Amino acid sequence: MSLKMDKKLILEEFKNTASIEELEKIRIKYLGKKGLISLEMKSLGTLSIEQKKIKGQELNIFKSFFEKEFNNKKNDIEKFVINEKLKKEKIDTSLPPREFNTGKIHPISQTIYRIIDIFSSMGFSVKSGPDIETDFNNFTALNIPNHHPAREMQDTFYIQEKVLRTHTSPVQVRTMLKSKPPIRIIVPGRTYRSDSDSTHTPMFHQVEGLLIDDFSTMAHLKGCLIDFLKDFFEINDLKYRFRPSYFPFTEPSAEMDIAYSKKDNVLKFGEGDDWLEILGCGMVNPKVLENCNINSSKYQGFAFGMGVERLSMLKYGITDIRSFYESDFRWINHYGFSPMNLTSSTGL
Ligand code: PHE
Repeated sequence: MSLKMDKKLILEEFKNTASIEELEKIRIKYLGKKGLISLEMKSLGTLSIEQKKIKGQELNIFKSFFEKEFNNKKNDIEKFVINEKLKKEKIDTSLPPREFNTGKIHPISQTIYRIIDIFSSMGFSVKSGPDIETDFNNFTALNIPNHHPAREMQDTFYIQEKVLRTHTSPVQVRTMLKSKPPIRIIVPGRTYRSDSDSTHTPMFHQVEGLLIDDFSTMAHLKGCLIDFLKDFFEINDLKYRFRPSYFPFTEPSAEMDIAYSKKDNVLKFGEGDDWLEILGCGMVNPKVLENCNINSSKYQGFAFGMGVERLSMLKYGITDIRSFYESDFRWINHYGFSPMNLTSSTGL
């Protein structure tokens, strides 16, 4: 079939086309492998040079014309289709939202995000370490030698020469061995002890804190932790106390308690005459600094460690620690947090 290069005819064909499919047929008719324009292009080879020039030029002009009209028509059809769709798909914004079932953020994660949030605003950065630790990092460097009774209080699971860490304190050691003061870190993570009852699970979470520089004192430690707890529990006049305690890796050591009262089965938190232990803390023992190659006559600082489950239970009114790990959907739906509704500036 020879091509009549009639622009009117082409325009006519486009005019009578209403769908992308029909349009595609026209494209194939003209520009497909065996299309009219393509065949004409091929037949140029049989012409004399002179004729080839003239016919070639005509063909190219015709081809560009075709392509331009084709694209215009295609745009028109596409616009038309979208407009028709939009007309049909009206959204009624006054309808109530559909129930949606994405997951929930686990209270442990939410608590960790909140803790990170508060300490980052005080200039602490987040560090982590492995769950399986060396005896040196978990005990010896922290001034808990082989036969020390503190080892028994933190009895754990041994894996050949290694231990499942009994606290997040070994990350203090890892950090001090690697970096020079000033150091200001917190370490959220899993820890393990062979304990199991309504207030203890064999795996639980802690957040460790460590600050080393050449001037920080016990007063800074207290200020830092008081500010943290007031912010975390959102209670401005929180009643607390520091009670002398003992940890081999801090000297002096303290535990921090928060007041509570329970009347007629209503638990009031941050006031009252009973005390709940919240965290352990103290000035880093110079022996630990030396074990980690830090000059203890130049540097000093403080450390603290808190149980995430304990903080989470108090803040959100959860009564049995084991419920954190039962993977009960009803529980997570009740105590979990919507990912759309996070208050944390970490955005997590
Ligand atoms: N590692 C201690 C524990 O698990 C807590 C702690 C950390 C105490 C840092 C003092 C300083 O009980």
